[in-house]
Amino acid sequence: MTRKQPIHLEDRKMRGARLYSPTAGRNKAPLAQALSLYMPHKASVLEIASGTGEQAAHICQRCRDVTWQPSDPDAESRASQNGWALDTEGAMLPSLNINVLMPLAEELHGKFDALFCSNMIHIAPKASVAGLAAVASAALKSGGEVFLYGPFLFGDDSAPSNVAFADRLKLRDPDWGVRELDLVKHIFGNAGLNYAGVTAMPANNHLVRFQKI
Ligand SMILES: C[S@@+](CC[C@H](N)C(=O)[O-])C[C@H]1O[C@@H](n2cnc3c(N)ncnc32)[C@H](O)[C@@H]1O
Repeated sequence: MTRKQPIHLEDRKMRGARLYSPTAGRNKAPLAQALSLYMPHKASVLEIASGTGEQAAHICQRCRDVTWQPSDPDAESRASQNGWALDTEGAMLPSLNINVLMPLAEELHGKFDALFCSNMIHIAPKASVAGLAAVASAALKSGGEVFLYGPFLFGDDSAPSNVAFADRLKLRDPDWGVRELDLVKHIFGNAGLNYAGVTAMPANNHLVRFQKI
């Protein structure tokens, strides 16, 4: 039987159930620092596409009063997230199987103060942007916040490294690609999520914020 192609696109390593990715290892400290400035107090956070879970565990250690619901459609990633959760004194809950190309389970509607998603929409079909917006709109309470992290294109002002990355992704799958921030804003706006600002992060990544009306 052929193994389904993994959808994480990272050079992962494994110890026990815990997976390590160099990207998540590099991003976790600046991300936790930036999120700590914006995360509402005692927030209940849904993370989409939690990957290895290492980043989530680090954020929980930095933002000590959050309750963090990790998720991923990939079973191996969910097992890894549950492994990393052991370091978080109960802040990280058992991971859920959430795929943004499917409707969000009814019991999760209106439950969360914030939604976080990093490095997913460029390595998933373009429909994942609208899927993520629909999941965020359904999952968040009114006034809830979205934090979206990763590479984005800014029209003619795009970082050359992100333009080159977009080209490499498209060779792999024409439906993948670094997304234009203006397009993401438009799609999220249509889902009732107002653009709230953007923060430049290391290595030409950005943390983009939206708020549910
Ligand atoms: C590059 S990894 C990023 C993991 C983590 N967020 C990070 O920044 O280290 C991309 C993740 O997106 C998940 N993913 C891919 N397609 C998805 C979808 N349709 N819905 C939700 N997650 C998806 C993959 O399983 C994988 O864990």
